[in-house]
Amino acid sequence: MSKKGLLFNCGKSKVMHFGEDENTLVMSFLDSVSSYTYNKHERIVGTGVVRCDISSFIFEKLEEKGIKTHFIKNLNNGKMLVKKIDMFKLEVIPRNYAAGSMVRNYPVIHGTRFDPPILKIDMKYSNDPMLNDDYIVALGIATKKELERIKELAHEVNNFLSSFFLEKELLLVDFKFEVGRNEKGEIIVGDEISPDGMRVWDRNTYVSMDKDVFRFGKGDLVEAYKELQKRLMV
Ligand code: C5P
Repeated sequence: MSKKGLLFNCGKSKVMHFGEDENTLVMSFLDSVSSYTYNKHERIVGTGVVRCDISSFIFEKLEEKGIKTHFIKNLNNGKMLVKKIDMFKLEVIPRNYAAGSMVRNYPVIHGTRFDPPILKIDMKYSNDPMLNDDYIVALGIATKKELERIKELAHEVNNFLSSFFLEKELLLVDFKFEVGRNEKGEIIVGDEISPDGMRVWDRNTYVSMDKDVFRFGKGDLVEAYKELQKRLMV
């Protein structure tokens, strides 16, 4: 029996259903915005579609660069067709400048540049505890070899995206992405890469165009995401 249309997974900000066959999924981006740290959750109409569009655009750019992702196509209206892959229970976070939890938890000044960029890896579990290499291997989340590849991929994605953003006069401060294994066992980019899980500042004014607008009540979130979309796509 075909699984088409059956529910596969339901998260805070996305719902996934099986696509035409068992190897594809339709990801529906919800208008749901939340911040665990600031204990905020709201429905903000329009955020789902713009997250899906920005994420699709970024995945297309990564693919053009030869970086594999699960992206197949943007079905529009906040839906994306993707390959079903075996996701690691990890959140991979490259950081180019100090912000967010880095500044809250460590003695570093907001905006300090990290050259070379640094990586943080959290576990997708409970309140997303931070991991280290030993924890990742001991918990059986990834092998040492897979972890090396994940880190290499994180730097490839970050180098490409930060240069691309800089061409648009944008600073990519940090971002979260997720990885999985495809049918060939290759480690590829999954989930979404969007302003919902990223910090981006205008290079000259340092104005945020990401979820910090929501976290700190700094204005209209949809307008901020749309401004980012416009800047990225010119
Ligand atoms: O909270 P922290 O400062 O460590 O987050 C770093 C980056 O990762 C931010 O851009 C944030 O939006 C993103 N992130 C995320 N989902 C999480 C944790 C962090 O998208 N669960």
